[in-house]
Amino acid sequence: MNYYQEAFNLISKQHQWRGSCLNMIASENITSPAVREAIASDFGHRYAEGVAGGVDENTRLKVFDRYYQGTKYFDRIEALAIKLSEELFHAEHANVVPISGVVANLVAYHALSKRGDRITALGLLDGGHISHCKISAAGVMGLKDIPYAFNEKEMNIDVDESKKIVRKEKPSIMLFGASVYLFPHPVNEMVDVAREINAKIVYDGAHVAGLIAGGRFHDPLKEGADVVTASTHKTLPGPQGGIILCKKELAEKIDNTAFPALMSNHHLHHVAGLLVALAEMKEYGSEYAGQIISNAKALAQSMHEHGIHVLCEHKNFTESHQILVDVSDHGGGAEIADRCEEANIILNKNLLPWDTFRDTRNPSGLRIGVQELTRLGMKESEMKDISMYLKQLIIDRENPGKVREEVEELKKEFNRVHYAFPSQRQAYEQIKFK
Ligand SMILES: Cc1ncc(COP(=O)(O)O)c(C=O)c1O
Repeated sequence: MNYYQEAFNLISKQHQWRGSCLNMIASENITSPAVREAIASDFGHRYAEGVAGGVDENTRLKVFDRYYQGTKYFDRIEALAIKLSEELFHAEHANVVPISGVVANLVAYHALSKRGDRITALGLLDGGHISHCKISAAGVMGLKDIPYAFNEKEMNIDVDESKKIVRKEKPSIMLFGASVYLFPHPVNEMVDVAREINAKIVYDGAHVAGLIAGGRFHDPLKEGADVVTASTHKTLPGPQGGIILCKKELAEKIDNTAFPALMSNHHLHHVAGLLVALAEMKEYGSEYAGQIISNAKALAQSMHEHGIHVLCEHKNFTESHQILVDVSDHGGGAEIADRCEEANIILNKNLLPWDTFRDTRNPSGLRIGVQELTRLGMKESEMKDISMYLKQLIIDRENPGKVREEVEELKKEFNRVHYAFPSQRQAYEQIKFK
């Protein structure tokens, strides 16, 4: 085996394949060529341990106390990324050090609670993320996870019942936000009970950060969240990483937990890429986020008209980038997701609230996200085409190979990244140095 050759062989295949696919995993996105240039820069070789140590009087930008030399350009990159994050998320303080969304959650938990405390969050079956429960970050931090009451029809937290749970359990952290996330969580309606029991509100905006920064979702900090954590690469189209936004009074605690408690170095090239992605969001974010939501609604409506069971018709299906589909009458989520993959439509099977953990291998649902397709310039009319392909696969049981031909034809027309500064590079082009 020539490992070297095989590595590049696989990289090329990945670019060709995913470039010809409809990529609809709700937690993914595609970065612009400019962001990819930043990721490939020298910053990826460097260290910048340290914390912000004040503000430059002339520039009003953060300055840093670093442990190593060689960071003068990076310091300005990080300071600008912090400034732009604060502006886009209307936050008093930002920290761009976390290397993923889970790590951002770990930082928030460590800063705001102690072992043995409780955290309220959505249960896994209702769309909560593993990092909100005992099997992952919350458990690692010694937190006991208590699920909110969930209204399956509304696909949202049941406010009255959940307030009772919160008053009884007295969590130190009330967490909002989720992995299956159609409608904004009721931060506004529950902030009173948080203040009453002295809990901190952590809002996990991993999925919807791009919609929040684009001003098209609710604003959790304005509604009373103390801390917002997020991934930087789902609806926010940055490199893979994490971010924390918080109130000024928590800034020092959050910064000192990110470094040195939970990270030594962070991923400097990804911070550089994040800065470029944030600049794109400042320029194009509102239009981009608005089109994502329009596309999600359009796809859901067309699928519904084709007889596919899309959840929450009575609420116009979604207010986010996601739609949820119940395919239990058509073989289940695993079988349909496999059929879709054969047709070059990449999405994921998903547990729905009425499933049990025994259904994990073949749950009832599919979760579909339209943010990457939107980034390629697709609009409502393409969503109609895609709903037809999905009908052919789910209801008509059409041969996936036949559907794949249509998918590839459509995809050929969408090979540039939109809502980004102009570039001659194609969206899925492989960057080659040799
Ligand atoms: C709600 C939520 N929080 C956190 C994460 C974890 O983010 P990351 O993969 O960046 O660690 C995810 C991942 O999909 C998520 O859905």
